[in-house]
Amino acid sequence: SWDMQSALDSQLATIRTKIGNTKHAVCALSGGVDSAVAATLVHKAIGDRLHCVFVDNGLLRYKEQERVRQMFKEHLHLPVTIIDASERQLTKLKGVSDPEKKRKAIGAEFIAIFQEFAEKLERDLGHKAEFLVQGTLYPDVIESCPPPGSGQKHSHVIKSHHNVGGLPEKLGFDLVEPLRWLFKDEVRKLGLLMGVPEVFIKRHPFPGPGLAVRCLGDVTAEPRALDVLRDVDEIFINALREFDLYDQIWQAFAVFLPIKSVGVQGDQRSHKHVVGLRAITSSDGMTADWFRFSGDFLAEVSNRITNQVSDVNRVVYDITSKPPSTVEWE
Ligand code: XMP
Repeated sequence: SWDMQSALDSQLATIRTKIGNTKHAVCALSGGVDSAVAATLVHKAIGDRLHCVFVDNGLLRYKEQERVRQMFKEHLHLPVTIIDASERQLTKLKGVSDPEKKRKAIGAEFIAIFQEFAEKLERDLGHKAEFLVQGTLYPDVIESCPPPGSGQKHSHVIKSHHNVGGLPEKLGFDLVEPLRWLFKDEVRKLGLLMGVPEVFIKRHPFPGPGLAVRCLGDVTAEPRALDVLRDVDEIFINALREFDLYDQIWQAFAVFLPIKSVGVQGDQRSHKHVVGLRAITSSDGMTADWFRFSGDFLAEVSNRITNQVSDVNRVVYDITSKPPSTVEWE
């Protein structure tokens, strides 16, 4: 629309004025909509003086690294360095089973990797990139600035969410936050206007600590856990797309449980893993209701999972709302 087009043009002008004609900027892409739209916008404004990085921490969904690579390089023509940090991240998670400690270990490693990226860039350019592009939205701004005198530090500190994937101020960059005045639906419209494909725009949110909060306990305890989780999750998500349910749901995912149950597969007694499925409706993730699938859909998904994933003999569906549950299981 005209409104969005003029908002886009004025944003580009603002970004060019702020960054200037010679300075460089860095941006960490998460694979989500916000950072992708922010980076696309800045790339339009300053071209290849924008340097993006995407970190594969070994906790991503099935084929996510390849999908992201294709999306950024082929569709959006964004210059992006992909860093495979799976091994080093999983090493840091060995023996860690407390959910908050897992989040901290992932957040700290992400910052370390990002810093190394920025230092290498500085050596290559001969000077430091001065700007950091972030996909902060208006609701994030409100949430991190509670009303004065409320005595609140954060609006809710049940989980240390906003620390993971965010970068601390002490890294010394000037922030560029082109989405700071926008709500999610406006960001989506802006993305579409700039040619970000609709399937990407409509992706469900994915947490910074990724599959670590969907693989309960020590993620390295069972060597195949993350792969089993990826396979189950992919079957579930593909079924949502096939049955045209994906867009009715805020988030949907599988959870790997570190327990085994008895089953019978091909006349044999089996002792295998249980997986949980979760699908919720929500408008902001703060409260949520579980999605009412038809029994037939759940039966189909359960059959596909137990037929295709040999490590799983039982599938359960999470029927709790938030509150009292949270969206993620950890
Ligand atoms: P909970 O589980 O607290 O989740 O009900 C609410 C929303 O936040 C997401 N979430 C996270 N996002 N880092 C993130 O970037 C985190 O540590 C984290 N924990 C939860 C969750 O997926 C849901 O959308």
